[in-house]
Amino acid sequence: MIFDSLLGLFSSDLAIDLGTANTLVFVKGRGIVLREPSVVAVHAESKKVLAVGHEAKKMLGRTPGSIVALRPMKDGVIANFEYTEAMIRHFFQKVHNRKTLIKPQVIIAVPSGITQVEKRAVRDSALSAGARYVYLVEEPMAAAIGVGLPIEAPSGNMILDIGGGTTEVAVISLSGIVYSRSVRVAGDELDEAIITYMKRKYNLLVGERMAEDLKIKLGSAYPLPQKKTMEVKGRDLVAGIPRTLIVSDEEVREALSEVVAVIVDTVKTALERIPPELAADIVDKGIVMAGGGALLGGLDVLLREQTGLPIIVAEDPLSAVAMGVGKTLEHLDLLKQVAI
Ligand SMILES: Nc1ncnc2c1ncn2[C@@H]1O[C@H](COP(=O)(O)OP(=O)(O)OP(=O)(O)O)[C@@H](O)[C@H]1O
Ligand SMILES: [Mg+2]
Repeated sequence: MIFDSLLGLFSSDLAIDLGTANTLVFVKGRGIVLREPSVVAVHAESKKVLAVGHEAKKMLGRTPGSIVALRPMKDGVIANFEYTEAMIRHFFQKVHNRKTLIKPQVIIAVPSGITQVEKRAVRDSALSAGARYVYLVEEPMAAAIGVGLPIEAPSGNMILDIGGGTTEVAVISLSGIVYSRSVRVAGDELDEAIITYMKRKYNLLVGERMAEDLKIKLGSAYPLPQKKTMEVKGRDLVAGIPRTLIVSDEEVREALSEVVAVIVDTVKTALERIPPELAADIVDKGIVMAGGGALLGGLDVLLREQTGLPIIVAEDPLSAVAMGVGKTLEHLDLLKQVAI
């Protein structure tokens, strides 16, 4: 016990959910201490990092020529190595325990569909940002642990994680992923679908942030119990001037429907491919949904209707993966079972 707490003073080990939309950091013994958008703002010429996280997200789409605000992760993987590293370094410094000089061991959640090259990029970026050692855990496994599924049992557990860049569905039994399927269609594509719809129907160009706002406040996959509308601001592509119009939940639902159908199909395909014994387990236990996309209004209802299975939305879908990798940080025997 005494040794444990002494060791705790020295160790600043971290677990990270390095997501396309959000990065969360879990510190051993402290829980989730950081939750920020995965956005970096840099000086266009000197490439100096000017802002990271919340501060940088406010700049998206609003920068003068001298500043570039960008999202270094795309489709769940690193799109820009340099800025991902800068982002991780910034977050490390923010949560760093100044009493320790030891570099942290870091556990990072990565999408299940990622290539060797992409894995190496994640590992290298954390190492050059100051990690001593890097473990990787697959996101659906982390999400399943995070929501408290009995992953060690000889029984199928199905998890569906809809993030910003990827939708992942996996069946886990005996601490292993028995089946997984990952498609690079998730929250970002829902936002893009709204942008396309507004352009086509109203000749109105809306920004990424406005589109996301519409999705979160008005978006749904299934008719809502009560009608909602929202004011949308953008630039009229014909007149070339700013314009405001009112959009209904029904219109947003129509805009999102194609992308939602891809997500539903991903789940159905998974159900068709899993071994029968595990399928039988899932008929009883259903599917647990995590990731920010799980919060899309009525998506659970639609999935229930389309699959006939119980659908459970995790209590805190945005924290599931970070809580899961955090648990492996605190239970090294579990980490040994699930690290890749
Ligand atoms: N209430 C909501 N309704 C619909 N979508 C939402 C809601 N809240 C957040 N989102 C969306 O969830 C996504 C972010 O979820 P999350 O943080 O789980 O993704 P991520 O882990 O960063 O991405 P990935 O796992 O794909 O790398 C964003 O696209 C965001 O717009
Ligand atoms: Mg995620």
